[in-house]
Amino acid sequence: MKNIVLFASGSGSNVENIVQYFQENSEVNISAVLTNKTQAQVLDRCNRLNINGLYFNRNAFYETDCVLDIVKTFNPDLIVLAGFLWKVPKNLIANFPNKIVNIHPALLPKYGGKGMYGNNVHEAVRANNETETGITIHYVNENYDEGAVIRQVKTSVLATDTPETIAHKVHELEYEYFPKVIEELLRGE
Ligand code: GRF
Repeated sequence: MKNIVLFASGSGSNVENIVQYFQENSEVNISAVLTNKTQAQVLDRCNRLNINGLYFNRNAFYETDCVLDIVKTFNPDLIVLAGFLWKVPKNLIANFPNKIVNIHPALLPKYGGKGMYGNNVHEAVRANNETETGITIHYVNENYDEGAVIRQVKTSVLATDTPETIAHKVHELEYEYFPKVIEELLRGE
């Protein structure tokens, strides 16, 4: 059995998609979803999906080993950040080398770094008249959006696209590819 621990800060549509993808797979267990937002919609999804949803605050994350200790109890094979907006502290990175992955809604190294999340990314892609954007799935290190790239998938940006239509295209790629890449990583491919 392989265990996944997810981290999310917002809506959690990727979390739900990943949970549903692995529902029929008896080899993969979604151990828990951890969030830094008490009001995150992802917690409602956890309730509905019957998945452990756990909240932690800034102090627990950055000043203690509390979150690390909780994650350790699940013995994760992979820690997946799916729309998680805080920088991951050293204690987690040191304890789970090459086991923490993130998805970024653009083609890194473009449109990465602090402040580059959600619609900010798609608005910047539009403003710069990019002709393509996409997703980047990468390992997490101590700097935002800088770990080794695992997979990038592109989509075209048309002159008629708005930040909203770009976001939609990117989400479609996330839903299609993120669970598959997670599955490959769990298989050691
Ligand atoms: C996704 O676009 C992901 O790439 C980014 O944050 C967004 C999360 O969306 N890191 P959701 O919470 O999964 O709906």
